[in-house]
Amino acid sequence: MNKKTVRDVDVKGKKVLVRCDFNVPLKDGKITDNTRITAALPTIEYLRDNGAKVILCSHLGRPKGEVKEEYSLKPVAEELKDLLDTDVKFASDVTGESAKSVTNSLTDGDVALLENVRFDPREEQNDDTMAMELANLSDGIYVNDAFGAAHRAHSSTEGVAHHVDEAVEGFLMEKEVKFLNGTLEDPEKPFVAILGGAKVSDKIGVIENLLDKVDEILIGGGMAYTFLKAQGHEIGDSLCEEDKIEEAKKIMNKAKLAGVKIVLPEDTVVAPKQPEPEEELDKKAKQKAFISFLETAPDKVVNSNEIPAGWQGCDIGPKTARTFANELQDKKTILWNGPLGICEVEKFSIGTEKVAEAIAATKSISIVGGGDSVAAIKKLHLEDNFSHISTGGGASLELLEGKVLPGISCLTDKPEKEKKEGKAMDVDKGDTPICPQR
Ligand code: 3PG
Repeated sequence: MNKKTVRDVDVKGKKVLVRCDFNVPLKDGKITDNTRITAALPTIEYLRDNGAKVILCSHLGRPKGEVKEEYSLKPVAEELKDLLDTDVKFASDVTGESAKSVTNSLTDGDVALLENVRFDPREEQNDDTMAMELANLSDGIYVNDAFGAAHRAHSSTEGVAHHVDEAVEGFLMEKEVKFLNGTLEDPEKPFVAILGGAKVSDKIGVIENLLDKVDEILIGGGMAYTFLKAQGHEIGDSLCEEDKIEEAKKIMNKAKLAGVKIVLPEDTVVAPKQPEPEEELDKKAKQKAFISFLETAPDKVVNSNEIPAGWQGCDIGPKTARTFANELQDKKTILWNGPLGICEVEKFSIGTEKVAEAIAATKSISIVGGGDSVAAIKKLHLEDNFSHISTGGGASLELLEGKVLPGISCLTDKPEKEKKEGKAMDVDKGDTPICPQR
């Protein structure tokens, strides 16, 4: 994955198309977390400083190929204006008349943002005509900085790269790949992974890929109960993927053979099982009812091997949080993905927060991905104590599974000579000041 970067092309006076991941959360039309926008600034500022005419594009939400005002990128254009302290010209379409006239009116250092690429039904089909139209807005230079969307082979993330002279990584993409992929290829040992989240099925690929790289895996969250059941423990009414029990057993055997220690929760915070709702609810309403039930439900701490019937595990217990914290002490590299409890409910986010604090207190290389784990870090204002906080959810998981991401593989390789000379960015020497380094 030694790809050319934005530093390897001459952008002066050229229209450069930059794919960003501006898929940010919105409430009543206002951006509630601008992390993904601020993470794209180093690339945008570099391009402006080097005299490029910057054309930004992104998706927002899943409008399914239709123009839907609630998914417009207009609020992102406003946010960018503030952050860059410059005008950001907004095109009201993706590759139509507005996009053409806005991009043709740019002078060196100017910035434009196209409307949501997913308003065009061709985007998710990776339609070649759309890819070509996007490429034609530029002067043959495409920068992919949308790490969060790099696992999608869409017209603006993959197809477009085949229609330009130079398709290169932006600084964010480069940094994400360096931390996530680089760490897996050559981790400082001992290396521990902390995995959480609801489902084992979402993490099997990651665990399999990590087994020959890590020294230890700490497992929490809903997925822990399938492992506990696989060990023959009584898990009451906790979440369990029955069809994954055999797989969990195999993973534990493989880990044993590979000398990888797997640590499961020794105690668990439990709440009563929710009674079946009386009416038929859709997925969203079901989740809402589940959370409001848990908010007022009683809770208690029990040993993880004796969760009573009628009770369900909602968080790792205090002993487990201490054990996990102790296990981190001697590790040089810590990779964390997924919450260790049901973080939507304040009282069940304690385990996740304790682990966030424990990682922050180490001097290890610490890499974290996944919405709820990142939210816990932000809530505790611990961002500066982590080496890298990934902006990608699905993309970081796929990279950790060892998959090739289409949004990266489509980019231009560095010439062999440079690869050998290792002319790649050295983030530790401060090439890209995106996230604080320790
Ligand atoms: C994300 O939020 O993970 C990325 O922006 C990708 O979004 P998607 O899952 O809708 O493709």
